[in-house]
Amino acid sequence: MTVHFKQDKPDESNRLDDMRQGVIGKALPRVEGLAKVTGTATYAAEYSIDNCAEGVLVTSTITRGEVTSIDRDAALAMPGVIAVIDDPRLTTRAAQGTADEAPQQKPKTVCYWGQPIALVVAETFEQARDATKHLAIEYRVEEGAPLDPNTVEPEEQEDETVHQGDLAHAMSEATHSVDVTYTTRGHASAAMEPHAAIAQWDGDKLTVYASLQMLNYNISELADALDMEEGDIRLVSRFVGGGFGSKLGISEEAVAASIAAKELGRPVRVVMSRQQVFQCIMRRSETTQRLRLCTDANGTLTGFGHEALVSNLPGEEFAEPVLQSSHFLYGGENRELMLKVARIHRMTAGSVRAPGEAVGMPALEAAMDVLAEEVGIDPVELRLKNIPEKNPEEGLPFSSHKLAECLRQGAEAFGWDRGPRKPRQTREGEWWVGTGMASAARVHNVSEAKARVTLKPDGTALVETDMTDIGTGTYTILSQIAGEMLGLSPDRVLVDLGDTRHPRGPGSGGSWGAASIGSAVYVACQAIREELASRLDVEEAELDLSDGKAGSGESIVDLLDGKDLAREGYYEPGDIADDYTASGFGAFFAQVRVNRFTGEARVDRMLGAFGFGRVLNHKTARSQCLGGITWSIGVALTEALEFDPRDGHLVNPDLAEYHVPVHRDVPDLDVIMVEERDPAASPIQAKGIGELGMCGGAAAIANAIYNASGARVFDFPMTPDRVLAAMPD
Ligand code: MOS
Repeated sequence: MTVHFKQDKPDESNRLDDMRQGVIGKALPRVEGLAKVTGTATYAAEYSIDNCAEGVLVTSTITRGEVTSIDRDAALAMPGVIAVIDDPRLTTRAAQGTADEAPQQKPKTVCYWGQPIALVVAETFEQARDATKHLAIEYRVEEGAPLDPNTVEPEEQEDETVHQGDLAHAMSEATHSVDVTYTTRGHASAAMEPHAAIAQWDGDKLTVYASLQMLNYNISELADALDMEEGDIRLVSRFVGGGFGSKLGISEEAVAASIAAKELGRPVRVVMSRQQVFQCIMRRSETTQRLRLCTDANGTLTGFGHEALVSNLPGEEFAEPVLQSSHFLYGGENRELMLKVARIHRMTAGSVRAPGEAVGMPALEAAMDVLAEEVGIDPVELRLKNIPEKNPEEGLPFSSHKLAECLRQGAEAFGWDRGPRKPRQTREGEWWVGTGMASAARVHNVSEAKARVTLKPDGTALVETDMTDIGTGTYTILSQIAGEMLGLSPDRVLVDLGDTRHPRGPGSGGSWGAASIGSAVYVACQAIREELASRLDVEEAELDLSDGKAGSGESIVDLLDGKDLAREGYYEPGDIADDYTASGFGAFFAQVRVNRFTGEARVDRMLGAFGFGRVLNHKTARSQCLGGITWSIGVALTEALEFDPRDGHLVNPDLAEYHVPVHRDVPDLDVIMVEERDPAASPIQAKGIGELGMCGGAAAIANAIYNASGARVFDFPMTPDRVLAAMPD
C-alpha cells in the first residue's frame, strides 16, 4: 500500500519533535561503519562471481576524429585474452549518461583525448591490461579542435541571464565599486573508489553490480544505452566509496561490462584505473568570473554583477551553474548576471561536488572582501548589511535563512576581530599570519522518493529503497527516522539500500538525498502509525511509541498479530518550490600563514558555521561539513586539472599530481551547526547539507592570504608562484 504525500505548503507541525524515542539528531555512529573499516563491506568490484572475466578499457590518444581500424590479432594471440570489443555503443557519449543531451554521433567518433574506444577482455586483469598495449589503432584525426575556452566564441545560457535596472550606471554613480575578475581551474571528483562494474546475464535479464549514486536514474540510462527495458535490469550498489558527482550517471565501465558479458556469455568485471577515472569521467569546468559590485557610502549594495565563462564539449547540456547562489545571496537592485559556455574538446564537464557554488561562491566572496576594504568596513558587517529580505530577483520569500546567525556565531566562536582591516599586521619568523572570512550558500534541492517500511512481528523494522549511501550517512539517518517514528531503537531498524528491486529513491546528488528519502521514510512511518493507532482505537497524534511499546503499555509486536505491517511512502516535492527560495547558508572563518620568501600558504585553523534545517545526525552532518571545508582547502590552494595546450590531454591524472588536501594540509577544523526547522524545505524540516560546507570556503582562505601577506590573488588555486607574484615586496 503506497501513501503519497505531495508537499504544497509549509508543514509547521514538526511531528518528529513530538516523538518519544529521542534518537533523531543524535550523534549515532554509522551503522555500516564497522563493516567498512574491517573490509567486510562489499564494494562493486569485490563481488565474487564464478567464471568472471576481466575487462580493461582502451582509451583514445587523439583529441578529435574517428577510429578507423583496430588491429586486434596481436592482442588476441596473447595468453588469456578472450576478446577485443569495440561496439560503437561504447564510443558514444551515451555511455556517459548524457544520451538525451548529446547529439547522435557517428560510431567511433572521438571527442576528447582519453575517451574509451574499446574493451579488452581476458582471464585476468593483468592479461587484459597488457593486451591493451598491443592493439594497433588507426585514427582519422581532425586537426584544430578548440582546447582553450578563451579562444572560441561562447554561447550565452539565456535562462541564466538577469538584466535588472542599470548596473553600468549604478557603478558609475556609486561611492564605492569594485570590478574584479577571477579564474578557477578544472577539478576532479577524486573519489577513493574508482568506477567499477560487474555485469552478469541470466538469459535476457541483466544484473550489474556498480558504484553509482542514482540507481533510479542510472537504470533508465543503462536501458537506453543497451536498448533494453528497465524491468530486465537490476542494479546493485550497496556501498559506494565516494561519488561527488562522478557517479551520478552511468559511465563506460558499466556499459562495456554489460555488452561484453552478453557477447561472451559469462560475467565480466571492468574497473577503471585511477588514470582512466581522471581522464574519462566528468570534470568540473574551469571558470572565468567577472564581479562588479557597488555600494553607497555606508556599504549597502546598489549594484550586483556576476558574469561567468565556463566550458563543455560541443552538444553537452550541462553548464557549470556558477551563478546559482548569486541570484539571491545579496541585495543590490541593479543586477547583471550572465553565464556563457565555450565549446572545447576536453572530457565532458559535469557535476563535481557542489556544481556552481563550489567555484562561484569563492569568486563572489573574494570580491566581497575587496569591496569591504574599499568601503572600509568589517567584512562580516558588509555581509550582514546586505542580506536581502526576500529573493532580490524573483521577490520570493526565503523558506528559512540563517546567514546572519551563522556570521555572528561563527565570528564569536572563531574570535574574529570586528572592524576595518589592514593586511600584514602579524609576522612570525618567515610567516605572515592573517585571517579571512566568507559567506556560504548552496541552494536546497529535493527530489521525489519512495521507500517501503515494514514492521515485523519480531519487533524489528525494515526500510527498503534503491537510495544509495555514498559515504554520507544515509543508512544511519534512515534508521534514526524510522526508529523515532515507530518507537524503536535504531539498532532494531534494518536499512536495505542500493538495489533497484526496492522502491525508487531519489539517489544521492545535489545534497537532496537526506531530506528527500528521509521524507519518504517519514511518510511511510506516519501511515504505519495511523494503522497502529486505529488498532489501539486512539488518534494517531496521541500514539506515544517508544522502545517497542505504546504509551498505554501494549507492545507493538502484539498489535501485529504475527503479521508484517508494511507501507510504502511516496514523497513528492510539490508546488512549494515555486513559493519559496530555499537554501542552506553559513559562514567560514580561516587563519592562514603565508611564507614571505616562498609564497606558500598554509591553513592554521578554520571554522564553519552552517544552518541547513533539521540536523538528522550530529555526527554524520558534522562529517559532511568537515569534508566540505577540506574541499575548500583544495579549491583555495592546490586542486587544478592541468591540460596540455597542444592536444588537450590531462597531464596530472592521478592523486600524486592532482593535489587533494592530505592530513598535513588539514589543520584544526571546527563546525558549528546552527539548528533550525525549515517547514517549507521538506516534511522533515531538513535541508541539504553535503555540499554547503565547500561553497565559499576557498574565499575565506584567499581573503586570509591577503590579510596575512598583502597578496591579492585573483586565480584559484593560490599556489606559491601566484602568491609570490602578487606579494608586495
Ligand atoms: Mo553531487 S556533484 O550532485 O554528487
